[in-house]
Amino acid sequence: MNTDYVGQPLTRRDGPLKVSGGATYSADLHPPGLAYAVAVGSTVGRGLVAAVDTASVEKMPGVLKVLTHKTVMRLKQIPPFNMGGSLGEKRNPLQDDVIYHAGQIVAVVVGDTLEHAQAGADSLRIRYDALAPVTHLDKGVKAPASSFTSKYPIERGKAQERLKGCEVTLDVNYKTPHEHHHPIETHATTAVWEGEKLTVYDATQNNFGIRKGLAMAFGIPNSQVRVLCKFIGGAFGCKGAMWSHVALAAAAAKMVGRPVRLQLTRPQMVTLVGHRALTEQRVALGADKQGKILAAVHEGRNSTSTISDFTEPFTITTPMLYNIPNVFCNQHVVRVNEGTPTYMRAPGESPGTFAFECALDELAAQIGLDPIELRLRNYAETDPSDGKPWSSKSLRECYAKGAERIGWSQRSAQPGAHRDGDWLVGLGMATATYPAVHFPATCAARVLADGRLQFRTGTHEMGTGTATVMAQLGAEIMEYPLEKTEFELGDTDLPVAPVSGGSATTGSVGTALHEAAAELRKKLTALGATTLELPVAGTECKGGFVFATADPKRRISWSELAKSAGGMVEALADIKQFGSPAHSKHSFGAQFAEVRVDPDLGIVRVSRFVGVYGCGRILNHKTAASQMRGGITMGLGMALMEESVMDKASGRWLSPNLAGYHVPTNADVPAIEVILLDEHDPHVNAVGTKGIGEIGITGVAAAVVNAIYNATGKRVRELPVVPARLLS
Ligand code: MOS
Repeated sequence: MNTDYVGQPLTRRDGPLKVSGGATYSADLHPPGLAYAVAVGSTVGRGLVAAVDTASVEKMPGVLKVLTHKTVMRLKQIPPFNMGGSLGEKRNPLQDDVIYHAGQIVAVVVGDTLEHAQAGADSLRIRYDALAPVTHLDKGVKAPASSFTSKYPIERGKAQERLKGCEVTLDVNYKTPHEHHHPIETHATTAVWEGEKLTVYDATQNNFGIRKGLAMAFGIPNSQVRVLCKFIGGAFGCKGAMWSHVALAAAAAKMVGRPVRLQLTRPQMVTLVGHRALTEQRVALGADKQGKILAAVHEGRNSTSTISDFTEPFTITTPMLYNIPNVFCNQHVVRVNEGTPTYMRAPGESPGTFAFECALDELAAQIGLDPIELRLRNYAETDPSDGKPWSSKSLRECYAKGAERIGWSQRSAQPGAHRDGDWLVGLGMATATYPAVHFPATCAARVLADGRLQFRTGTHEMGTGTATVMAQLGAEIMEYPLEKTEFELGDTDLPVAPVSGGSATTGSVGTALHEAAAELRKKLTALGATTLELPVAGTECKGGFVFATADPKRRISWSELAKSAGGMVEALADIKQFGSPAHSKHSFGAQFAEVRVDPDLGIVRVSRFVGVYGCGRILNHKTAASQMRGGITMGLGMALMEESVMDKASGRWLSPNLAGYHVPTNADVPAIEVILLDEHDPHVNAVGTKGIGEIGITGVAAAVVNAIYNATGKRVRELPVVPARLLS
């Protein structure tokens, strides 16, 4: 029997459930006695809650309770996500009267139906002591460097001094706007208390983080909190931390003595669950006339809330991506009255590669060098940030393959040279990169008496195919039929799994699964050898049997062994270290865009896109290519459409919906060619995967903007490239 499942482009196992409506998301569960909570957001952007008229609303039909900072139960302090807690920001929700940003939850109305709760929320009168919000970065408070999660400045050599003496220099500023994740599934929490035991169905990328946060908030042990999340309708980072509505749903359920669901509305998704911070970046480059870059300065700032200093680490790739002897990176954050920003698909790398990869294109044009050639002349053979060899790197092949597929040799070095009717046509490229991140993970592997092979861990199915690829991997390792192999996830009653972020799930959970399978095989072999009275050395275990190597007919089935062991044989793996510490582990890729620009109307159409990547071993070519296509599509949105605009006077978002926040639709997305190079990486982890969730978006905006330059000769340094920016 052939059990080489890894790599096969298998269809996602959860597909039929999803298309038939059978997949139950967090807002689809209706425990008996369910009550409904509606969050009420502040209409002012800064100030204090002066008074809330709870009494009249609590008299309304079907209204069970109104939670305000005065009436809500006290929650214990939960530290934020990056400090070992799980809150998205440094503030326990609804515990005081201070308003930090418009839309902040100032009350929660609980009703016996959603309509009653909504009517109560609509009728609730709140008086504010309002102050003018600080919304402009130039007026905000610069946070002290000590509050950041990374240490700045990051310096190698003497970049600032070295710049001055270079033959060719470039010093330019780029800007990226506030962006929102806007997954199709809105956040929802359904909380059920049974005595002091809390069960929560939550839309989350971080089951165990939510468990920890709720246990902290209510002062109960982790073991008394169970978090379940079987399906996620998109996340992209905004479901990684615990936000205010989660704790408030659980508090409301405790206070009314019934299960409570709190689901955010689309407009509330814009203020309450994080966003990508606005960034302002300066890139200064110094090179010789041959294109050897001698100095790079990358610095700037991003917006954050007045309560949490979130750094969007846009300089993160600058010290490692090219072999540049002198590098200076510095960042700071500015506190303004907006909600707390958070991780959004390739935080740092997305806005950072936009600025740096555009600057490289500008430098190439200045020198008169092909943009790919410029990158090759500064190719990093080892990681220049720490001197380590790469665990694997196929970036040269990515450039070559992508150039061939897009027809780079046809590109005119002279901008504006290709016209097709009303359209100017151009080609652009950029490098993509993302680190191979790992988090500690555990996984159980077991065989049951009915012959099922199960792998179990409390990780997440974000719609990316985790359940499918993990079953493929497990079945292949155990050389067992895939139909009889199950992968269970989405429940904190399962072994502990990390946050599904940082493109780390497959490498981390996969390595734990790999080890669990090895342990299970050992256990089964030992049990089988004893039963068959064989030496372990002459015994094999695969395909559902333990057997004598010399005489395969002398065998016992796994299900027999499970039966005699009381119903199952199980092994657990707990992995804390991944791969070789002597290597630098990153995925790399090359993004190529062809754009058509109408120079009179300022319209940009991406007509072709090619992405070529080296991401280690690919467990499933279908789901992996889908991930890349999704990342590229999100990158096209970043390049041309996505922008949340704040009304500076009120601190409120002008487009808190998908009518005003434009994302690419089918008509905006061209044929995307995704090529995943076969990479064998023995150093990254036991499975050989480097992560694919985020690299797909990196470099895309730069490739598009560089193609626009090639088409028109116009340099746009602020995203998104809407007609007004192109025509200005
Ligand atoms: Mo991601 S931004 O690590 O979900």
